[in-house]
Amino acid sequence: AAAYPFHGAHQAGIVTPAQDRLHFATFDVSTTLDRDGLVGLLQDWTDAAARLAQGLEVSEDGAVGGSDYAPPADTGEALGLPASGLTITFGFGPTLFEAGGIDRFGIAARRPAELTALPRFQGDALQPERGGGDLCIQACADDPQVAVHAIRNLSRIAFGRASLRWSQLGFGRTSSTSTSQQTPRNLFGFKDGTANVKAEETKDVAEHVWVAASDEPAWLAGGSYLVARRIRMIIENWDRVQLGEQEMLVGRSKGSGAPLSGGTEFTEPDFEAEGPTGTPLIDPASHVRLAHPTGNGGARMLRRGYNFVDGNDELGRLDAGLFFLSFQRSPEQFITVQRSLAADGLNEYLKHVGSAIFAVPGGIRPGEHVGQALF
Ligand code: HEM
Repeated sequence: AAAYPFHGAHQAGIVTPAQDRLHFATFDVSTTLDRDGLVGLLQDWTDAAARLAQGLEVSEDGAVGGSDYAPPADTGEALGLPASGLTITFGFGPTLFEAGGIDRFGIAARRPAELTALPRFQGDALQPERGGGDLCIQACADDPQVAVHAIRNLSRIAFGRASLRWSQLGFGRTSSTSTSQQTPRNLFGFKDGTANVKAEETKDVAEHVWVAASDEPAWLAGGSYLVARRIRMIIENWDRVQLGEQEMLVGRSKGSGAPLSGGTEFTEPDFEAEGPTGTPLIDPASHVRLAHPTGNGGARMLRRGYNFVDGNDELGRLDAGLFFLSFQRSPEQFITVQRSLAADGLNEYLKHVGSAIFAVPGGIRPGEHVGQALF
């Protein structure tokens, strides 16, 4: 499996071809940590992440190279496994900058104006224990053990400085972020990621994904905003819906992924096209119609979500869904599309239960730590 460079103009794990597995975690910084302590944590995380991305252990001592009388430096479960395409992406939540009116780290004035908790959306059923966080780490890899090893060891390094707030495992990507990838499927059985922003579309990536040097604040240049939503899918109800109605709700054919206006998977949807009786071939309340840039002032985003199944609920239904992750130049892009989706016919089968937003600093140069320009 591949190893992706950790250093570069942008953090890895955004336009990197979406890997198969995810372990996502958010952290709250300890109330006793000061500014130097926070910088120290970011430095330690950066150093460890740069090693992990090469398939190395978290530090030179490793799992078995240290003293017999001390706990090993690395937890060991990735010994012998390759890098497996591991990417580690760090983000800063609104509460890192200021919480309860307190400027803990002297960075409140440097909070990006747009980095605030997302507004409430129609139908939100958010559980506080699955939201927010001062910091986040997205670990993606083609081997679940490698992704979990990364989050576990980074949590361990943070001991006493930041503690895990909530976390999410994902299996099966629900997007493609490169034209070299096949479009995967979500748990509704539909191809997901067809019209996503792809790494090769460099003009769209620059316009819709990266914070530009001319945007505010300057320290976030080359970065992005990450929105995470844990969306429960009531798949037992969905599985009782007729195929024709499933396709109408999405606006695409289930087999090929082609828009219902015709063509093949990558044909642009034609929202004007009508059937013999004069009804639009793509329903105006379909997901694709409402999420499409044409109805959203041209807004696009880079989606990078994962399927999840976390056991079952007390009614014997799978606790399944889509852990939605999107990267955008401004949170406004997500907000605009999510507001349009208030009319989405799919909502009958969806429940948004977790939500968080983070500013993802730009790329890290060797010798620097993540977010260095902020401090
Ligand atoms: C497109 C499924 C949630 C934004 C699609 C497509 C599917 C899909 C099957 C068509 C294929 C594609 O172009 O990728 C789902 C499911 C969701 C969900 C099952 C919830 C569990 C969301 C959310 C947003 C979103 C929360 C953003 C607020 C989009 C966008 C497109 C899209 C922007 C592309 C539209 C276009 O340009 O044609 N989604 N989606 N989706 N979805 Fe979702």
